[in-house]
Amino acid sequence: MCGIVGYIGEKQAPPVLLEALKKLEYRGYDSSGIGVITSDKGHMLLQKTRGKIKDLQALLEAHPFPESSIGICHTRWATHGVPNKVNAHPHADCTGKILVVHNGIIENFEELKKDLRRKGHKFASDTDTEVVAHLIEENYRGDLVAAVRKAIKRLRGAFALGVMSVDHPDALVAARVGSPLIIGLGKNENFIASDAPAILEHTRRIIYLKDGQMAVLRKDKVDVSTFGGKAVKPKIDQVTFKLDAVRKQGYAHFMLKEIHEQPEALRQMLQKRLKADTVYLEGLGLSDRQLKAVRNIVVVACGTAYHAGLVGKYVIERLAGVPVSVDVSSEFRYRQPIIGKNTLVMAISQSGETADTLAAVREAKAKGAKVVSICNVLGSSLARESDGVLYTYAGPEIGVASTKAYTAQLCMLYLFALKLSGLHRRISAGQRRLLTRHLREVPSLYEKIFRHKNAIAAIAKANSHFGCFLFLGRNINYPSALEGALKLKEISYIPAEGYAAGEMKHGPIALIDEYRAVVCLAPQSPIYEKMVSNMQEIRARRGNIIAIATEGDKAIARHAHQTIYVPRTHDLLTPLLVAVPLQLLAYYIAVKLGCDVDQPRNLAKSVTVE
Ligand code: AGP
Repeated sequence: MCGIVGYIGEKQAPPVLLEALKKLEYRGYDSSGIGVITSDKGHMLLQKTRGKIKDLQALLEAHPFPESSIGICHTRWATHGVPNKVNAHPHADCTGKILVVHNGIIENFEELKKDLRRKGHKFASDTDTEVVAHLIEENYRGDLVAAVRKAIKRLRGAFALGVMSVDHPDALVAARVGSPLIIGLGKNENFIASDAPAILEHTRRIIYLKDGQMAVLRKDKVDVSTFGGKAVKPKIDQVTFKLDAVRKQGYAHFMLKEIHEQPEALRQMLQKRLKADTVYLEGLGLSDRQLKAVRNIVVVACGTAYHAGLVGKYVIERLAGVPVSVDVSSEFRYRQPIIGKNTLVMAISQSGETADTLAAVREAKAKGAKVVSICNVLGSSLARESDGVLYTYAGPEIGVASTKAYTAQLCMLYLFALKLSGLHRRISAGQRRLLTRHLREVPSLYEKIFRHKNAIAAIAKANSHFGCFLFLGRNINYPSALEGALKLKEISYIPAEGYAAGEMKHGPIALIDEYRAVVCLAPQSPIYEKMVSNMQEIRARRGNIIAIATEGDKAIARHAHQTIYVPRTHDLLTPLLVAVPLQLLAYYIAVKLGCDVDQPRNLAKSVTVE
């Protein structure tokens, strides 16, 4: 996902822009660039490079920009055109007087490019973004804002834009549809950015630009309007999370920091949403009557969020007796889903900007479904497009591999299931009390698991040479196996597959030999013996077993080469507990292999394109 920052004010723009852009590195990128308008001569200067922001910084140190107090900069995650200097943003028009940065995809850029070429425009790059600069130029008659308005009317797709022109050095223009863009309001300075962490050290007063809105930023005022030109009085939010939330606080990686933030994230959610045995789902957007009338639930999500949804299915069906189906968003949106008038669609997304999940939600709404989303990023597109949003408030998740967002999603799904079970009176008061008591204990159980993290690290290192991992789980921990495999493969690049343990005989057992590592999730559960049988079959074929089991279970050690223990909890809550050793296992293996844990190759924190 690309990152955008723009500045207009009284400070020197380049250092402000680059420091802000570094806070967006977590979004994943392969090139970056910066453009400024010089204060004295009113020149437009541009510097771009493939690689990291530090490479861009080195170029600026070698060739410093003169004084400038307005600029835009960008980190690019390539969609159209290979990652190189020419394709890096910002992009200019033919005159070099107009600069554009963009996040998203212009779906009709080829036809626009053909039309502009016919009119004599010359293109330097292979990107869709460059078309926007030439379209503004084509419509420019002396009024930059009017030209931007006319240009964006021709665009189809998702775009967050930052635009500036050397003929208008006192204005920065922003526009968005489909990709996030915020306005930061400072004292005699204003900002645009893809995400709040970029500008938190300057201001906490934020406008979340909405789809179909434009903004004109001057150093002392910001005017927001619709694309059609109607003035808008925007809501100004005060961002509360702390700046150090986006710093590593002494941990080697954001991912490790976020793994350790899980106890606090869950503690805060439980304090806010579980009082005695009553669940408060503020933001749900549905009355108890509406919720009780729900006949089936369809979960749409991607990646880790999809795995959370799979756990949610087991929990909601078990506690509330309401049928749940779970779809990966990219499949849901094309399979002509059957949505009844009493279908509730639940969209799960940490970023709230995942293109496939947004598209799935739009498809569901077009079919008349009510949509509730479970989101971590406030003011995200998904949050705004849902009828109700359950914020997990887990704080910014910077590491590309999702950890605290996952367990926060799980916890929210447990709370939702408890709420629904109360409406359907499906479980006794005693059962409810037992579950909520165990749920409240989870944060402290996490802290107990952290006390063994050196042992987990040792097991990880001892197994980091294996070229292939199989993760096996049953019942409510089958999704845990899928998630464990995803964690490992996405940060260590080791092929890893999650499987339902009962499926072993139907093919995967052919994989087993002394060259494979098999992670078996065997916490206490009604089907524990079945899992042990699977482990015996694997052991008999010389597979190397790492078991994750419940404290006190000595017998398991006979079937596994190494065992990681988690504290005892309610059977239904074991996915919450096994998630942490799986995260740590993946983390320590990736570190041992020298991988870029926070920004794995080819990945972005949020996949805002299809
Ligand atoms: C998780 O570790 C991955 N980074 C990825 O699968 C992620 O969960 C997926 O892209 C969905 O993102 P979202 O929750 O922001 O929608």
